[in-house]
Amino acid sequence: MLTINNQTFIPINVFSLIDDARPEVNIYACAKNDHRPILLISETEAIDLDKIDSFESEGVYNLYVSNDQFEQFQEHLRSNWERFLEDETLPLKTRLANIMEISRDLLAKTFVTKQPENLVRVARSLSRVLASLINRNQPPLRDLIDILRHDDQLATHSVNVACYATFLAESLGYPLSDLNKIATGVLLHDVGMLELDQNIVKKTRKLDEFERKEITKHSILGFQLLCKVADLSRDEIMIVYQHHERVDGKGYPTSLVHSEIHPWARLCAVADTFEALTSDRPQRQRLSVTSAIAILQRESDKSLDPAFVDAWIGLLEAEKIT
Ligand SMILES: [Fe+2]
Repeated sequence: MLTINNQTFIPINVFSLIDDARPEVNIYACAKNDHRPILLISETEAIDLDKIDSFESEGVYNLYVSNDQFEQFQEHLRSNWERFLEDETLPLKTRLANIMEISRDLLAKTFVTKQPENLVRVARSLSRVLASLINRNQPPLRDLIDILRHDDQLATHSVNVACYATFLAESLGYPLSDLNKIATGVLLHDVGMLELDQNIVKKTRKLDEFERKEITKHSILGFQLLCKVADLSRDEIMIVYQHHERVDGKGYPTSLVHSEIHPWARLCAVADTFEALTSDRPQRQRLSVTSAIAILQRESDKSLDPAFVDAWIGLLEAEKIT
């Protein structure tokens, strides 16, 4: 997010733009080390990818829409939902970028409701799309990392972790029916955060002892919230309950060790840790993939399951992602 002269700009993903589409919003560009957005495509013009490409050749930049037109931009994306799902003439990266962006926005809106049935219903329908896209198209992991946002919002984190966990599970040969459930549980893994004092959750400075303890309640609170929904399976809800257990028994809420922890919760923990390390946080900038890999290796067999760590690092290294 960028605020200039009391006007707020929300970042958008260049891969979500389709040539000739008319979102009818102003699209701004801003060089990465400059904070003055310039109007690139006006709301009366169609998207012109050549124009965007030629701007890109001048250096690294970010694209934005203003906060007051962001909802209209999301509506434009949602109106093309079917096309992103079905139209194989569109680049896969464009389809994925749009589907992830729409999913992130819908999940963010659903989180606000805090209604368990609503949360599960939306997570289930997004999971079906996410799991089948990954299962059917097997996109490069590099593309997934490229198209996802990497900010500190709960919905962003949840969609990203669900993407990574589903990708990892798919690579390990889990059937589509499991991928659907894994994606559902992972999309909801941190819903307990919604039940906490948001002044603590959104605090930008270092947490004190009391605040850290409060945050650790989120896995139980999420579990309790979702227990009220009859059709959530035990496997799915164990992701929510156990994703902060550690294989060395020093995790929470119940200090289980290795095989006592549900395998999907152990898988989620690897994706969760990687996502958190490679996304911006209020206290720090995101780490490179190389630095994140070093931390995962350090945590292997301590907080994280070594088999899932090795599998995840193997996927990153296979594509030489650094
Ligand atoms: Fe968590």
